[in-house]
Amino acid sequence: MEPVRAVKGMNDVLPDECAQWQRVEAAFRRTAALYGFREVRTPYVEPTRLFVRTVGEGTDIVEKEMYSFRHHDEDLTLRPEGTAGAARAYVEHGVHNREPVTRWYYIGPMFRAERPQRGRYRQFYQLGAEIFGDPGPGCDAETIAMLVEYFRAIGVPDLEVLVNSIGSADTRPRFRDALLQFFEPKRGSLSEESQRRLAQNPLRILDSKDPRDVAACEGAPTIVEHLAEADKKHFEDLRRLLDALGVPHRVEPKLVRGLDYYTRTIFEIKGAKAKLGAGDTLVGGGRYDAMVEDLGGPSVPALGFAAGLERLVIAAEPPGAEAVVDAFVAPIGEASMAAALELARELRVRGVATSADTRGASLKALLRRANTQGARLVLILGEAEMARGVVMLRDLAGHAQEEVPREGAAAIVADRLAASGAIRRGEQP
Ligand code: HAM
Repeated sequence: MEPVRAVKGMNDVLPDECAQWQRVEAAFRRTAALYGFREVRTPYVEPTRLFVRTVGEGTDIVEKEMYSFRHHDEDLTLRPEGTAGAARAYVEHGVHNREPVTRWYYIGPMFRAERPQRGRYRQFYQLGAEIFGDPGPGCDAETIAMLVEYFRAIGVPDLEVLVNSIGSADTRPRFRDALLQFFEPKRGSLSEESQRRLAQNPLRILDSKDPRDVAACEGAPTIVEHLAEADKKHFEDLRRLLDALGVPHRVEPKLVRGLDYYTRTIFEIKGAKAKLGAGDTLVGGGRYDAMVEDLGGPSVPALGFAAGLERLVIAAEPPGAEAVVDAFVAPIGEASMAAALELARELRVRGVATSADTRGASLKALLRRANTQGARLVLILGEAEMARGVVMLRDLAGHAQEEVPREGAAAIVADRLAASGAIRRGEQP
Protein backbone atom coordinates (compact mmCIF):
# COMPACT_ATOMS: atom_id res chain seq x y z
CA MET A 1 0.00 0.00 0.00
CA GLU A 2 1.10 3.59 -0.69
CA PRO A 3 2.22 5.15 2.59
CA VAL A 4 -0.58 7.21 4.14
CA ARG A 5 0.46 10.79 4.84
CA ALA A 6 -1.12 13.52 6.93
CA VAL A 7 -3.53 15.89 5.18
CA LYS A 8 -1.74 18.87 3.59
CA GLY A 9 -1.46 21.77 6.03
CA MET A 10 -2.27 19.57 9.04
CA ASN A 11 0.66 18.73 11.28
CA ASP A 12 1.72 16.08 13.74
CA VAL A 13 3.25 17.50 16.89
CA LEU A 14 5.71 14.92 18.16
CA PRO A 15 6.70 14.61 21.82
CA ASP A 16 9.97 16.56 21.37
CA GLU A 17 7.96 19.60 20.24
CA CYS A 18 5.11 19.02 22.68
CA ALA A 19 7.32 20.17 25.55
CA GLN A 20 7.42 23.69 24.10
CA TRP A 21 3.69 23.60 23.27
CA GLN A 22 2.90 22.67 26.87
CA ARG A 23 5.11 25.44 28.19
CA VAL A 24 3.40 28.06 26.02
CA GLU A 25 -0.06 26.72 26.91
CA ALA A 26 0.69 26.47 30.64
CA ALA A 27 1.93 30.08 30.72
CA PHE A 28 -1.29 31.16 28.98
CA ARG A 29 -3.47 29.29 31.48
CA ARG A 30 -1.53 30.91 34.32
CA THR A 31 -1.90 34.41 32.87
CA ALA A 32 -5.59 33.86 32.10
CA ALA A 33 -6.22 32.64 35.66
CA LEU A 34 -4.45 35.70 37.10
CA TYR A 35 -6.92 37.87 35.19
CA GLY A 36 -10.00 35.89 36.24
CA PHE A 37 -10.66 33.97 33.02
CA ARG A 38 -12.17 30.48 33.16
CA GLU A 39 -11.80 27.82 30.50
CA VAL A 40 -14.62 27.05 28.08
CA ARG A 41 -14.69 24.17 25.58
CA THR A 42 -17.08 24.43 22.65
CA PRO A 43 -17.56 21.95 19.78
CA TYR A 44 -15.18 21.78 16.82
CA VAL A 45 -18.21 21.56 14.53
CA GLU A 46 -20.89 24.24 14.38
CA PRO A 47 -23.80 24.99 12.05
CA THR A 48 -22.39 26.71 8.95
CA ARG A 49 -24.76 29.64 9.27
CA LEU A 50 -23.16 30.61 12.60
CA PHE A 51 -19.99 31.66 10.76
CA VAL A 52 -21.82 33.14 7.77
CA ARG A 53 -23.79 35.30 10.18
CA THR A 54 -20.88 36.46 12.38
CA VAL A 55 -17.57 36.23 10.51
CA GLY A 56 -19.43 37.51 7.45
CA GLU A 57 -20.46 36.46 3.99
CA GLY A 58 -17.93 38.52 2.05
CA THR A 59 -14.87 37.50 4.09
CA ASP A 60 -12.06 35.23 2.86
CA ILE A 61 -12.79 32.80 5.67
CA VAL A 62 -16.44 32.28 4.74
CA GLU A 63 -16.00 32.58 0.98
CA LYS A 64 -12.97 30.37 0.50
CA GLU A 65 -11.59 28.76 3.61
CA MET A 66 -14.27 26.85 5.45
CA TYR A 67 -14.37 23.06 5.68
CA SER A 68 -18.12 22.68 5.28
CA PHE A 69 -20.14 19.56 4.71
CA ARG A 70 -23.67 18.35 4.74
CA HIS A 71 -24.63 15.66 7.22
CA HIS A 72 -28.20 14.38 7.66
CA ASP A 73 -29.78 17.55 6.29
CA GLU A 74 -27.58 19.83 8.36
CA ASP A 75 -24.98 22.23 6.94
CA LEU A 76 -22.00 21.98 9.23
CA THR A 77 -18.53 23.55 9.35
CA LEU A 78 -15.29 22.76 11.17
CA ARG A 79 -14.81 25.91 13.22
CA PRO A 80 -12.45 28.36 11.50
CA GLU A 81 -12.21 30.44 14.71
CA GLY A 82 -13.47 30.39 18.28
CA THR A 83 -15.35 33.63 18.87
CA ALA A 84 -18.60 32.73 17.11
CA GLY A 85 -18.88 29.41 18.98
CA ALA A 86 -18.16 31.08 22.32
CA ALA A 87 -20.83 33.73 21.68
CA ARG A 88 -23.29 31.03 20.57
CA ALA A 89 -22.64 29.10 23.80
CA TYR A 90 -22.97 32.29 25.85
CA VAL A 91 -26.40 32.97 24.36
CA GLU A 92 -27.55 29.34 24.33
CA HIS A 93 -26.85 28.87 28.03
CA GLY A 94 -28.24 32.26 29.10
CA VAL A 95 -24.93 33.01 30.82
CA HIS A 96 -25.78 36.73 31.09
CA ASN A 97 -28.52 35.80 33.59
CA ARG A 98 -25.93 34.38 35.98
CA GLU A 99 -23.06 36.85 35.78
CA PRO A 100 -22.77 40.47 34.70
CA VAL A 101 -19.33 39.99 33.20
CA THR A 102 -18.08 36.72 31.75
CA ARG A 103 -14.42 36.01 31.06
CA TRP A 104 -13.71 32.84 29.11
CA TYR A 105 -10.57 31.44 27.56
CA TYR A 106 -9.97 28.48 25.25
CA ILE A 107 -7.19 26.49 23.64
CA GLY A 108 -7.98 24.32 20.67
CA PRO A 109 -7.72 23.54 16.97
CA MET A 110 -9.28 25.67 14.23
CA PHE A 111 -9.62 24.80 10.55
CA ARG A 112 -9.12 27.02 7.51
CA ALA A 113 -8.38 25.81 3.98
CA GLU A 114 -5.62 28.36 3.39
CA ARG A 115 -2.48 27.96 1.31
CA PRO A 116 -0.06 26.38 3.79
CA GLN A 117 3.26 28.12 4.51
CA ARG A 118 5.44 28.72 7.55
CA GLY A 119 3.11 29.78 10.39
CA ARG A 120 -0.01 29.23 8.26
CA TYR A 121 -1.72 25.86 8.35
CA ARG A 122 -5.08 24.26 7.62
CA GLN A 123 -5.45 22.87 11.09
CA PHE A 124 -3.91 25.25 13.57
CA TYR A 125 -4.35 25.92 17.27
CA GLN A 126 -5.52 29.10 18.88
CA LEU A 127 -5.24 30.35 22.43
CA GLY A 128 -8.11 32.77 22.81
CA ALA A 129 -10.20 34.69 25.29
CA GLU A 130 -13.56 36.42 25.16
CA ILE A 131 -15.08 38.90 27.61
CA PHE A 132 -18.84 39.45 27.59
CA GLY A 133 -20.57 42.32 29.38
CA ASP A 134 -17.86 44.97 29.68
CA PRO A 135 -18.25 47.92 27.30
CA GLY A 136 -15.43 50.15 28.56
CA PRO A 137 -12.07 51.00 27.03
CA GLY A 138 -10.47 49.89 30.32
CA CYS A 139 -11.39 46.33 29.40
CA ASP A 140 -9.76 46.73 25.97
CA ALA A 141 -6.60 48.23 27.45
CA GLU A 142 -6.24 45.63 30.19
CA THR A 143 -6.68 42.79 27.69
CA ILE A 144 -3.93 44.16 25.45
CA ALA A 145 -1.68 44.70 28.48
CA MET A 146 -2.33 41.11 29.59
CA LEU A 147 -1.22 39.81 26.19
CA VAL A 148 1.97 41.85 26.28
CA GLU A 149 2.74 40.45 29.75
CA TYR A 150 2.09 36.94 28.53
CA PHE A 151 4.33 37.32 25.46
CA ARG A 152 7.10 38.70 27.66
CA ALA A 153 6.70 35.79 30.07
CA ILE A 154 7.30 33.25 27.31
CA GLY A 155 10.15 35.28 25.86
CA VAL A 156 8.77 36.61 22.56
CA PRO A 157 11.15 39.35 21.30
CA ASP A 158 10.39 42.54 19.31
CA LEU A 159 6.75 43.04 20.27
CA GLU A 160 4.73 45.52 18.27
CA VAL A 161 1.18 46.46 19.31
CA LEU A 162 -1.03 47.87 16.54
CA VAL A 163 -4.41 49.39 17.38
CA ASN A 164 -7.19 50.95 15.36
CA SER A 165 -10.86 51.69 15.73
CA ILE A 166 -13.37 50.57 13.21
CA GLY A 167 -16.18 52.47 14.92
CA SER A 168 -19.69 51.39 15.73
CA ALA A 169 -22.89 51.43 13.71
CA ASP A 170 -22.78 55.25 14.02
CA THR A 171 -19.43 55.48 12.24
CA ARG A 172 -19.67 52.75 9.65
CA PRO A 173 -22.11 54.29 7.11
CA ARG A 174 -20.16 57.56 7.08
CA PHE A 175 -16.88 55.81 6.49
CA ARG A 176 -18.40 53.55 3.88
CA ASP A 177 -19.61 56.59 1.93
CA ALA A 178 -16.17 58.17 2.15
CA LEU A 179 -14.56 54.99 0.85
CA LEU A 180 -17.05 54.67 -2.00
CA GLN A 181 -16.36 58.24 -3.05
CA PHE A 182 -12.63 57.57 -2.97
CA PHE A 183 -12.60 54.23 -4.79
CA GLU A 184 -15.40 54.73 -7.33
CA PRO A 185 -13.29 56.90 -9.67
CA LYS A 186 -10.46 54.32 -9.61
CA ARG A 187 -12.71 51.27 -9.91
CA GLY A 188 -10.83 50.09 -13.02
CA SER A 189 -7.49 49.90 -11.23
CA LEU A 190 -8.80 47.64 -8.46
CA SER A 191 -8.53 43.83 -8.49
CA GLU A 192 -11.63 41.99 -9.74
CA GLU A 193 -12.36 40.86 -6.21
CA SER A 194 -12.19 44.38 -4.84
CA GLN A 195 -14.39 45.69 -7.64
CA ARG A 196 -16.97 43.17 -6.52
CA ARG A 197 -16.45 44.09 -2.88
CA LEU A 198 -16.83 47.79 -3.59
CA ALA A 199 -20.59 47.45 -3.52
CA GLN A 200 -20.78 44.89 -0.70
CA ASN A 201 -18.16 45.94 1.80
CA PRO A 202 -15.59 48.50 0.65
CA LEU A 203 -13.75 48.18 3.98
CA ARG A 204 -12.43 44.83 2.79
CA ILE A 205 -10.46 46.57 0.02
CA LEU A 206 -8.21 48.12 2.67
CA ASP A 207 -7.30 44.60 3.82
CA SER A 208 -6.43 43.28 0.34
CA LYS A 209 -2.88 42.10 -0.35
CA ASP A 210 -3.29 42.36 -4.15
CA PRO A 211 -0.64 44.84 -5.39
CA ARG A 212 -3.26 46.66 -7.53
CA ASP A 213 -5.39 47.26 -4.45
CA VAL A 214 -2.43 48.20 -2.29
CA ALA A 215 -1.53 50.89 -4.86
CA ALA A 216 -5.14 52.07 -5.12
CA CYS A 217 -5.38 52.39 -1.31
CA GLU A 218 -2.64 55.02 -1.27
CA GLY A 219 -4.21 58.14 0.29
CA ALA A 220 -7.51 56.41 1.11
CA PRO A 221 -9.57 57.97 3.91
CA THR A 222 -8.90 56.49 7.36
CA ILE A 223 -11.58 55.29 9.75
CA VAL A 224 -10.12 57.21 12.65
CA GLU A 225 -10.82 60.50 10.83
CA HIS A 226 -14.46 59.52 10.47
CA LEU A 227 -15.21 58.22 13.95
CA ALA A 228 -18.50 59.30 15.53
CA GLU A 229 -18.08 61.24 18.80
CA ALA A 230 -18.61 58.33 21.25
CA ASP A 231 -16.40 56.01 19.18
CA LYS A 232 -13.69 58.61 19.09
CA LYS A 233 -13.78 59.01 22.86
CA HIS A 234 -13.59 55.23 23.33
CA PHE A 235 -10.49 55.08 21.14
CA GLU A 236 -8.80 58.04 22.83
CA ASP A 237 -9.52 56.56 26.25
CA LEU A 238 -8.07 53.22 25.17
CA ARG A 239 -4.86 54.91 24.02
CA ARG A 240 -4.60 56.94 27.23
CA LEU A 241 -5.04 53.81 29.34
CA LEU A 242 -2.46 51.87 27.32
CA ASP A 243 -0.03 54.72 27.93
CA ALA A 244 -0.85 54.67 31.63
CA LEU A 245 -0.18 50.92 31.73
CA GLY A 246 3.13 51.44 29.94
CA VAL A 247 2.11 49.51 26.82
CA PRO A 248 3.88 50.96 23.77
CA HIS A 249 1.52 50.88 20.79
CA ARG A 250 1.05 52.36 17.35
CA VAL A 251 -2.16 53.43 15.63
CA GLU A 252 -2.32 51.57 12.32
CA PRO A 253 -5.03 53.25 10.22
CA LYS A 254 -4.95 50.48 7.62
CA LEU A 255 -5.71 47.76 10.15
CA VAL A 256 -9.22 46.43 9.44
CA ARG A 257 -8.97 42.67 10.33
CA GLY A 258 -10.38 39.91 8.15
CA LEU A 259 -13.63 39.30 10.03
CA ASP A 260 -16.83 41.33 9.78
CA TYR A 261 -18.00 41.24 13.37
CA TYR A 262 -15.76 43.92 14.83
CA THR A 263 -16.91 47.24 16.29
CA ARG A 264 -14.72 49.98 17.77
CA THR A 265 -11.36 48.66 19.02
CA ILE A 266 -9.36 46.28 16.84
CA PHE A 267 -5.76 45.26 17.47
CA GLU A 268 -2.95 42.97 16.43
CA ILE A 269 0.33 42.15 18.12
CA LYS A 270 3.35 41.14 16.09
CA GLY A 271 6.63 39.75 17.34
CA ALA A 272 9.76 37.71 16.66
CA LYS A 273 9.99 38.94 13.07
CA ALA A 274 13.42 37.38 12.66
CA LYS A 275 11.93 33.92 13.24
CA LEU A 276 8.48 34.36 11.73
CA GLY A 277 9.11 36.58 8.70
CA ALA A 278 5.96 37.88 7.05
CA GLY A 279 3.63 35.73 9.18
CA ASP A 280 4.56 37.53 12.36
CA THR A 281 1.06 38.44 13.53
CA LEU A 282 0.84 36.53 16.77
CA VAL A 283 -2.57 37.67 17.86
CA GLY A 284 -5.61 39.44 16.51
CA GLY A 285 -8.61 40.70 18.38
CA GLY A 286 -11.09 43.40 19.06
CA ARG A 287 -14.53 44.38 20.19
CA TYR A 288 -17.69 42.85 18.73
CA ASP A 289 -20.46 44.65 20.60
CA ALA A 290 -23.27 43.55 18.27
CA MET A 291 -22.66 39.79 17.97
CA VAL A 292 -24.48 38.52 21.05
CA GLU A 293 -27.66 40.38 20.13
CA ASP A 294 -27.25 39.32 16.50
CA LEU A 295 -27.29 35.70 17.64
CA GLY A 296 -30.59 36.19 19.42
CA GLY A 297 -29.22 37.12 22.84
CA PRO A 298 -29.55 40.34 24.82
CA SER A 299 -27.56 43.46 23.95
CA VAL A 300 -24.25 42.55 25.58
CA PRO A 301 -20.94 44.09 24.48
CA ALA A 302 -17.95 41.82 23.95
CA LEU A 303 -14.24 41.83 23.29
CA GLY A 304 -11.68 39.11 22.67
CA PHE A 305 -8.56 37.89 20.93
CA ALA A 306 -6.94 34.75 19.60
CA ALA A 307 -3.28 33.90 19.19
CA GLY A 308 -1.84 31.28 16.85
CA LEU A 309 -0.19 28.63 18.99
CA GLU A 310 2.18 27.36 16.26
CA ARG A 311 3.47 30.91 15.80
CA LEU A 312 3.95 31.36 19.54
CA VAL A 313 5.85 28.09 19.74
CA ILE A 314 8.25 29.37 17.07
CA ALA A 315 8.40 32.89 18.53
CA ALA A 316 8.92 31.99 22.20
CA GLU A 317 12.33 31.44 23.72
CA PRO A 318 13.36 27.82 23.11
CA PRO A 319 13.26 25.64 26.22
CA GLY A 320 16.41 24.09 27.63
CA ALA A 321 17.10 20.43 26.85
CA GLU A 322 14.09 18.56 28.09
CA ALA A 323 14.28 16.17 30.98
CA VAL A 324 12.00 13.20 30.53
CA VAL A 325 12.41 12.12 34.16
CA ASP A 326 14.11 13.46 37.29
CA ALA A 327 15.20 10.13 38.77
CA PHE A 328 16.36 6.84 37.30
CA VAL A 329 16.38 3.57 39.19
CA ALA A 330 19.10 1.18 38.00
CA PRO A 331 18.78 -2.47 39.11
CA ILE A 332 22.01 -4.42 38.67
CA GLY A 333 21.06 -8.02 38.06
CA GLU A 334 17.66 -9.72 38.02
CA ALA A 335 17.52 -10.22 41.78
CA SER A 336 17.04 -6.51 42.42
CA MET A 337 14.31 -5.92 39.79
CA ALA A 338 11.35 -6.20 42.17
CA ALA A 339 12.99 -3.89 44.70
CA ALA A 340 13.81 -1.41 41.93
CA LEU A 341 10.24 -1.30 40.65
CA GLU A 342 8.98 -0.79 44.20
CA LEU A 343 11.45 2.05 44.76
CA ALA A 344 10.36 3.74 41.51
CA ARG A 345 6.76 3.50 42.69
CA GLU A 346 7.61 5.17 46.00
CA LEU A 347 9.35 7.99 44.14
CA ARG A 348 6.37 8.62 41.86
CA VAL A 349 4.04 8.72 44.87
CA ARG A 350 6.20 11.61 46.06
CA GLY A 351 5.76 13.40 42.73
CA VAL A 352 9.19 12.52 41.35
CA ALA A 353 9.05 11.61 37.64
CA THR A 354 10.97 8.35 37.57
CA SER A 355 12.07 5.77 35.10
CA ALA A 356 13.13 2.27 36.24
CA ASP A 357 15.29 0.26 33.91
CA THR A 358 13.64 -3.04 33.07
CA ARG A 359 15.85 -4.12 30.20
CA GLY A 360 19.04 -4.84 32.11
CA ALA A 361 22.58 -3.70 31.24
CA SER A 362 25.97 -2.95 32.74
CA LEU A 363 26.20 -0.07 35.21
CA LYS A 364 27.96 2.05 32.60
CA ALA A 365 25.17 1.49 30.06
CA LEU A 366 22.51 2.19 32.68
CA LEU A 367 24.13 5.50 33.59
CA ARG A 368 24.12 6.40 29.90
CA ARG A 369 20.41 5.61 29.68
CA ALA A 370 19.73 7.76 32.74
CA ASN A 371 21.64 10.63 31.17
CA THR A 372 19.73 10.38 27.88
CA GLN A 373 16.46 10.74 29.78
CA GLY A 374 17.71 13.84 31.58
CA ALA A 375 17.61 12.26 35.06
CA ARG A 376 19.44 14.22 37.76
CA LEU A 377 19.67 11.42 40.31
CA VAL A 378 20.31 7.72 39.75
CA LEU A 379 19.48 5.12 42.38
CA ILE A 380 21.65 2.02 41.95
CA LEU A 381 20.44 -1.24 43.43
CA GLY A 382 22.84 -4.19 43.15
CA GLU A 383 23.06 -7.41 45.17
CA ALA A 384 25.56 -5.86 47.59
CA GLU A 385 23.27 -2.89 48.28
CA MET A 386 20.24 -5.16 48.67
CA ALA A 387 22.06 -7.27 51.21
CA ARG A 388 22.96 -4.22 53.30
CA GLY A 389 19.55 -2.47 52.97
CA VAL A 390 21.00 0.53 51.17
CA VAL A 391 20.84 2.24 47.80
CA MET A 392 23.72 3.91 45.98
CA LEU A 393 22.61 7.45 45.09
CA ARG A 394 24.52 9.13 42.29
CA ASP A 395 24.14 12.78 41.31
CA LEU A 396 24.73 12.92 37.58
CA ALA A 397 25.32 16.67 37.52
CA GLY A 398 27.64 16.83 40.55
CA HIS A 399 29.22 13.41 39.87
CA ALA A 400 28.95 12.64 43.59
CA GLN A 401 27.95 9.25 44.92
CA GLU A 402 26.81 8.14 48.39
CA GLU A 403 24.98 5.35 50.13
CA VAL A 404 21.56 6.08 51.60
CA PRO A 405 19.27 3.74 53.55
CA ARG A 406 16.81 1.90 51.32
CA GLU A 407 13.90 2.83 53.60
CA GLY A 408 14.35 6.59 53.38
CA ALA A 409 15.70 6.73 49.81
CA ALA A 410 12.51 8.06 48.14
CA ALA A 411 12.12 10.84 50.71
CA ILE A 412 15.77 11.86 50.39
CA VAL A 413 15.56 12.05 46.60
CA ALA A 414 12.30 14.05 46.67
CA ASP A 415 13.76 16.51 49.21
CA ARG A 416 16.96 16.91 47.29
CA LEU A 417 15.18 17.65 44.03
CA ALA A 418 12.87 20.13 45.75
CA ALA A 419 15.81 21.86 47.47
CA SER A 420 17.65 22.26 44.18
CA GLY A 421 14.86 24.61 43.07
CA ALA A 422 14.65 23.09 39.59
CA ILE A 423 11.19 22.72 38.09
CA ARG A 424 10.40 19.05 38.38
CA ARG A 425 8.55 17.03 35.79
CA GLY A 426 6.03 15.70 38.28
CA GLU A 427 5.06 19.25 39.23
CA GLN A 428 4.47 20.57 35.76
CA PRO A 429 0.85 21.24 34.78
P1 HAM B 1 -7.68 35.87 13.35
O1 HAM B 1 -6.90 37.12 13.13
O2 HAM B 1 -8.36 35.28 12.19
O3 HAM B 1 -8.73 36.21 14.50
O4 HAM B 1 -6.74 34.78 13.99
C1 HAM B 1 -6.01 35.06 15.17
C2 HAM B 1 -4.61 34.48 15.09
O5 HAM B 1 -4.68 33.09 14.77
C3 HAM B 1 -3.74 35.06 13.99
O6 HAM B 1 -3.12 36.26 14.41
C4 HAM B 1 -2.71 33.96 13.80
O7 HAM B 1 -1.70 34.02 14.80
C5 HAM B 1 -3.53 32.71 14.03
N1 HAM B 1 -3.95 32.14 12.74
C6 HAM B 1 -4.97 32.49 11.95
N2 HAM B 1 -5.03 31.72 10.84
C7 HAM B 1 -4.01 30.84 10.94
C8 HAM B 1 -3.53 29.76 10.14
N3 HAM B 1 -4.12 29.42 8.99
N4 HAM B 1 -2.44 29.08 10.56
C9 HAM B 1 -1.83 29.39 11.72
N5 HAM B 1 -2.24 30.39 12.54
C10 HAM B 1 -3.31 31.11 12.16
C11 HAM B 1 -9.63 35.33 15.00
O8 HAM B 1 -9.63 34.16 14.78
C12 HAM B 1 -10.62 35.95 15.96
N6 HAM B 1 -11.53 34.90 16.42
C13 HAM B 1 -9.92 36.62 17.11
C14 HAM B 1 -10.89 37.22 18.10
C15 HAM B 1 -11.32 36.66 19.26
N7 HAM B 1 -11.49 38.38 17.97
C16 HAM B 1 -12.30 38.56 18.99
N8 HAM B 1 -12.21 37.52 19.78
